[in-house]
Amino acid sequence: MSKPRAGLALVAAALVALAGCGAGDPRPVWHTPAVAGATMTTAPGVGAPGLGDPYYPNAGNGGYDVAHYDIAVSYDPDSHRITARAAIRATALTPLSRFNLDLRGLTVRSATVAGKPAATSRAGDELTLTPAEPLPAGTVFETIIEYGGKPSTYGGPGQAGGEGFVQHDGGAIALGQPESAAAWFPCNDHPADKATYDIKLTVPGDLAALSNGVLRSRTAKGGRTTWEWATTSPMATYLATAVIGDYRVRTGTHDGLPVITAVADGLPTTMDDAMARTPEVLDFLEERFGPYPFDALGGIVHDNANLRFALETQTRPVYVSSFFLGPKPSVTVVAHELAHQWFGDSVSVRDWRDIWLNESYATYAGWLWVEHEFKRPLATSFTTAYETAAEEVWTTPPADPGRENMFSDSVYDRGAMTLYALRQTVGAETFDRITREWADKNKDGNVSTADYIAHAEQVSGRQLDDLFQAWLYGRTRPAKP
Ligand code: ARG
Ligand code: ZN
Repeated sequence: MSKPRAGLALVAAALVALAGCGAGDPRPVWHTPAVAGATMTTAPGVGAPGLGDPYYPNAGNGGYDVAHYDIAVSYDPDSHRITARAAIRATALTPLSRFNLDLRGLTVRSATVAGKPAATSRAGDELTLTPAEPLPAGTVFETIIEYGGKPSTYGGPGQAGGEGFVQHDGGAIALGQPESAAAWFPCNDHPADKATYDIKLTVPGDLAALSNGVLRSRTAKGGRTTWEWATTSPMATYLATAVIGDYRVRTGTHDGLPVITAVADGLPTTMDDAMARTPEVLDFLEERFGPYPFDALGGIVHDNANLRFALETQTRPVYVSSFFLGPKPSVTVVAHELAHQWFGDSVSVRDWRDIWLNESYATYAGWLWVEHEFKRPLATSFTTAYETAAEEVWTTPPADPGRENMFSDSVYDRGAMTLYALRQTVGAETFDRITREWADKNKDGNVSTADYIAHAEQVSGRQLDDLFQAWLYGRTRPAKP
């Protein structure tokens, strides 16, 4: 939820548009279905430094498809330095004499590809690896990178300290959207290339080290503890998190699902109570969206005021504490971030331009929750949003808001209003079917706005061009549905 009730300015004001392959550029030569995004390849045999995302052309890399990341990070809270190793299993989609990973700052100590030393070079956030021998197309290979140093941040949207790998007294939080992963591990940093993960965090024995998925083990050795986490469903890089520090950790289960929540020590226990409602919110959403797509559940509340947002980090959203103030905190933000587990995490965008596909459903889930808990009808949430929207909501098309407006009210509120308009047009029952079947058929996949429109038309048996044209692309306020 980027713009909660507190009126926080979270808009991507600091983002500077990149020159390069924009939306109008010809698409890929090397497109293969293995990586959901199109790949831009500079020359045959050479991986591309970007995937050609219309908003982030250099994010991700072309020429290969990652299947699995095995990341081991040892963190020292005094120096804020990491010593790390990433083992990445991927498939070459084209013959590769060299290829790129995204990595921001940090020092690469050594690299191998397919068991042999590989040459490395750095330019900006790109790490280029040259294997000893070129990789034929179709090769499954492993690259192992030993690296370390003091991780840095990106000038995140509206964030005082930036996002990425953000340090604070006694700990650190790896978090951000769309950029964060390359601040702490080398990766194909784009949601089009999802992969499974093992994340091993080694920290001083008195600290917690939280991440995504299932906690496989916790091993103490020489005053330090390694927390080993496993993500078994494909995950986009920006959804990987590491939260290290003094936390009250609670573990439990819900319908056989392991649940781990954590709240920064020093925060009121009312926040632990809010986190304890995570399974209740999940049950509510499962009734509307269908089965929860993952094998673990949880949430983390931190106290770093520089990260003034919540993020739908897979299986375990991360929340800034200001969402849970007061004696009985509202969990509407939990509904928002858990809705993202279906919409954003399991069903992911292929291009950042389509982020309304994520934020619309998450905002809509917030409306459903306030109807459920506070008896505020869905129609009231819609009408209020419709009537109080600022002019720029109507002049900014949610389905192509521009890079600097990825987290704008148009994407969130007009996105949710679009879903409501669809629901009014096709009827609540058909809309619920559109929603559930969308989540089900695209589980663990990548989608576009065109896919959504085609799906809604197919399920409803109606021609919906005018509706989507007006709500997603128009630059004036559509008529009230
Ligand atoms: N996807 C997040 C949410 O709505 C938004 C995070 C955006 N803010 C940021 N500074 N990156 O739940
Ligand atoms: Zn959201």
